[in-house]
Amino acid sequence: MAVQFNYVAPKGWKPKNADRDYLITYLDIELADGIPEDKFEDAVASCAAESSTGTWTKVFSGKNSGVKLADKLKAIAYDLDPKTKTFKIAYKREIFEEGNMSGLLAGIAGNIDSMKMLKAFRLIDVRFPESIVKSFPGPQFGIDGVRKFMQIESGPLMCTVAKPKIGRTAKEQAALAKILFTAAKGEYQGIKDDENLTSLYFNQFENRCRRVHKVRRDIERKTGKRKMFLCNTTHSDMDIMLERADMIKEQGGRWMMMDVVTTGFTAVQTVRNQNPGLAIHAHRAMHGLLDRESGPGVYDKREIMDFSMSMVVIAKIMRLLGVDSLHGGAPKTKMENYNEPKLIQEALQSAVTPQGPMTLGQNWFGMKGVWHTASGGLHSGSIGESIKKLGEDIILQAGGGVLGHPWGIEAGVEAMVQARDIAMKRLDIEVWIKNNPDSALAKASSHWGFGPKIVY
Ligand code: 3PG
Ligand code: MG
Repeated sequence: MAVQFNYVAPKGWKPKNADRDYLITYLDIELADGIPEDKFEDAVASCAAESSTGTWTKVFSGKNSGVKLADKLKAIAYDLDPKTKTFKIAYKREIFEEGNMSGLLAGIAGNIDSMKMLKAFRLIDVRFPESIVKSFPGPQFGIDGVRKFMQIESGPLMCTVAKPKIGRTAKEQAALAKILFTAAKGEYQGIKDDENLTSLYFNQFENRCRRVHKVRRDIERKTGKRKMFLCNTTHSDMDIMLERADMIKEQGGRWMMMDVVTTGFTAVQTVRNQNPGLAIHAHRAMHGLLDRESGPGVYDKREIMDFSMSMVVIAKIMRLLGVDSLHGGAPKTKMENYNEPKLIQEALQSAVTPQGPMTLGQNWFGMKGVWHTASGGLHSGSIGESIKKLGEDIILQAGGGVLGHPWGIEAGVEAMVQARDIAMKRLDIEVWIKNNPDSALAKASSHWGFGPKIVY
């Protein structure tokens, strides 16, 4: 073993008082072609070394070398399974700066995913200790805070992603908002910008923000029902993003939207800490480049093929950094991956996220929960499954699934509201449709059915 110390624990070793003293990672690797199977333990030791105190070779260990302390602070790999190539690493909490996600990730998920000895790598999960959990802000509003300001005690929130993704002017977007806010007797909450819409010549941020919020205020005044506009502030310049958040605030808005992967972890924490007084709706465009895994072992212990971290890890990070809602996929949709949406929902919302064969769980030490946004190919025939599997603290978003209704936008909203009510009452949607053959929902389901519509 070329590494300086013994980074692998004796068989049966487990970290003591893990939630107090250790950050734990759960990893899956595949050795590069040509590397014999019996080198698995060496590869694991290299992962523990490179991600904590070591490097690829022994280094000078004399006076002032820091080697003594490095030995004390080294990470320890344990629970090695040479058959499935999975293992865990326990890091002493002291080797991470509290409240610094970017620094922490550079350690636990930094160089080790680039090592030549591996042909695949997946950070399956991370379990954070109490001191690190408490060093992050967490959501400002969370599930209860959002329910309070939306004045909605139970059930999911619902909104529509404007489609075409881009094309409407700011004025046209405000007209769409009016329809969405008022259709189905005002039972539908809102509108979301799609990720491609930031500030474009035909639909500039300020103009859109002003117009849509004016419609929102008017409707709220007339109906007494709270509405939401998830207005996309995404920008690679923090100052501009914060200025946009301020503009929303000036309009009396309660929500901002930002793309949290493209803007980055620092941006999310900065927005949360600068506290524009808005709930943060986190869109996750580009997450596939971080979390997508094509091998059969994506959510079990078989072979993996890519270099990735799971969306469960990203969801935990986002809860720590303080978003109030996060896209986490949904059952029966165009991007569903195994049982992933449920695992994400538990990471976002549970007081103590349960442990499972492929998850480490998490004690959140009182940190607020995050709304799970179910989105991506949803329509009225499929949202019942989201409510059933993910619960009520979800934001149901449908773009095409509302705006593509054969009878028009109002009917699209009506079908969604009918489907929500059926799911909330635990009725059978197919029986309901048989009894209501002329309903908007019956028309929608004859058009889209009840399952996902995947683009081939
Ligand atoms: C999103 O931003 O969540 C998606 O664009 C949703 O669009 P869809 O409902 O048409 O798939
Ligand atoms: Mg989108």
